[in-house]
Parts: sequence; C-alpha cells; structure tokens
Amino acid sequence: MTEKDFISDYKYNLVDKGKIESKCGSNIALIKYWGKYYPQLPANPSISYTLSESFTQTTINFEKTAKFSVQVFLGKHFNEKFSKKIEKYFLSIKPYLPFIDKYKYIINTTNSFPHSSGIASSASGFGAIADCLVRMSTLLGEKNNEEFNKVKISFLARLGSGSACRSVYKGLVVWGKHKTIPGSSDLYAIPFPFEISPVFKTIQDTVLLIHEGVKEISSTLGHDLMKDHPYAKTRFTEARKNLSELTMVLQKGDLETFGRIVEHEALSLHAMMMTSFPAFILMKPETLAAIKKIWEFRKDTRHHLYFTLDAGANIHLLYPEEEKNEIFPFINNELIIYSENNKLIKDKAYF
Ligand code: DP6
Repeated sequence: MTEKDFISDYKYNLVDKGKIESKCGSNIALIKYWGKYYPQLPANPSISYTLSESFTQTTINFEKTAKFSVQVFLGKHFNEKFSKKIEKYFLSIKPYLPFIDKYKYIINTTNSFPHSSGIASSASGFGAIADCLVRMSTLLGEKNNEEFNKVKISFLARLGSGSACRSVYKGLVVWGKHKTIPGSSDLYAIPFPFEISPVFKTIQDTVLLIHEGVKEISSTLGHDLMKDHPYAKTRFTEARKNLSELTMVLQKGDLETFGRIVEHEALSLHAMMMTSFPAFILMKPETLAAIKKIWEFRKDTRHHLYFTLDAGANIHLLYPEEEKNEIFPFINNELIIYSENNKLIKDKAYF
C-alpha cells in the first residue's frame, strides 16, 4: 500500500456529537528504531513486543463546531502542551480524515503506569488516539474492512510517534521495510508474519525503574542527531542484519542468541547517543551496575535473563515465564537496589 491509499474523499455524515473510547498497550523494542526521515519514516526496520500491563486508555468527546480545537486532559488535569501537540497532529492528518477540523475535541487519557516512569507513553498514547479517530470515521459512515482499518490506525499512529505504529497489534510487531519480512512497510507496522517458538510468547518484562524523572533529551531530538552521525550508515545496516538473525531465532526458540542480539541492540542504541554531536548519556551509574549483575547472574546460573533499554536509564528485564521462579527472586532481592524508589513494573509480552 502507498500513502495515497490512506487519503480519503469519503462523503461523511457529520453527526453533531459523539464519544469514542480506546485502549492501547505500550511496547518495548528488541531491534531499535533510532534515526528517521521526513515524514516519520524509519532509517531501519524495528521489532517490538506490545506490553500487556502498561497501557493507555483514552476517551474522545467530539462536537460539531465552526472553530476546531483540542483539549487534552491527563488524568483529570488539563495539559496545554499536549493539547497544542495533538491539535497540530490532528491538522497534519486531515488528508486522511477530512472531517477532522469540523469538530472540537475533549480528550481524556490515563496511563496504567507512572507518567515519568520511562515507559513509552507516546506509543500507547498515539496508538489509542489513532484507534479512536478511525472508529470515529466509521461512526461518520466510512465503510472499510477491519483489516484496512487496522493498517490505517497504524499508519496514523506512526505520524504521531514512530514507535506508536507498532502498538496497534499485540504480540511481536515489525515496522519498516525488510527484505526477509513479507508485507513489511515503512508506512505502518505489521504483526510478525512467522510462527514463533512458544517460549517467545511467554516473555516477561520486569522494568527496573532506575530513574523516574523526565528525560533530559527527547527521542525526537535523538533521532535527529542520527542525520549527521559518523556511524549512522553502519548502524542502519547492522540493525537490518540483526533483524534478519532475530527473525530466525524467534522461530527456532534460541534464547541465548535472542539475548545476545537484544542486549547488543540496547547497547548500540546508547552507543549512538554517546557518539552523537552533541553527545548525551541517558544511562545512570545504577544502569551499568545492574547490567554487570545481570551478566554475573547469567554466568553463575545459566538462566535466561536478558536486558534491553529504551531511550532512558531504566532497564527492561526479559525472561521466559518458565524460569520466573528462579529469576524473579533475584530481581526482587538483588537488582531492586538499583531502582530509585525500590519500584518495579511487572509486565509481559501481550499475546
Ligand atoms: C529508543 O517513537 O519515541 O524507543 O517517532 O520521534 O516519536 P518519535 O520517536 P519514538 O522513538 C522510539 C525510540 C526507541 C526505540 C524504539 O522504540 O524502537
């Protein structure tokens, strides 16, 4: 499909008002998206697990008006910054939803996880909003099949935040064109198209909250710094190679290679940050200390505990459910000391 397939010239039935609701999970990338081109196209393909416990719930009330506006409430609190951001986003997607500026919107959104916890609220947030908007187009009479609607939700979510397009599906989700993944596209995400080994359907994600503050640098700025990055070309080639290998590993059920690739991806992401101009470091001393402990634990016990990192200091601890009884006590007794307020988020892949 091309961008043109999402442009709509439908004659909508502009009802006076209505209400739509949606829920969308956050996601954690195994192969990282870091670097992009206009309009929000990824420099390399990525794959993530959609999460089961970390999600956003959104309600949109809309009413016909001569003056388009958007008001966003986080929890019960009006948020001016988000209102402006979403207003701009709505206008930017008008070619795909031409009715959008005929209404005023009140958006209420809540996250199941703390706002500054380092869980990507933009992924689940834009996923939920895009889902609401496509439901709204259906409410106004547009008739498309479910499958097309899902693709359109992912396409629209991407335009809000790149990683959000992966949150539209559960399980393992791929965004970005890749030669070994049929149907993959830079415009939207698709569910991982191959049968995966059962062990990879049970992956637990326990998040060590090492730093709960707001990030010093936004992902958007970080992506931008990849434009003149000395290692950009190598990084994008490497990510493609890692995705090819991971694609095989996920089907075979090879946990060791899974862990090697996933940790290498996380460290490569942070290596890119550290070698950008200007350079920035999002890991904290506790992040490094915890990584060392994880490596020691693995060496001593041979349990399949691996980590990944987002654009922040927090550590996502990935392990199969069948080893939970041995691994979780280690996290809870020995790794929790590195978290800022002794806090963990217990999540898992959503299948
Ligand atoms: C490190 O999707 O937050 O989490 O497209 O500018 O909104 P924007 O960036 P965003 O970047 C996510 C970066 C990442 C890796 C990933 O999720 O693939």
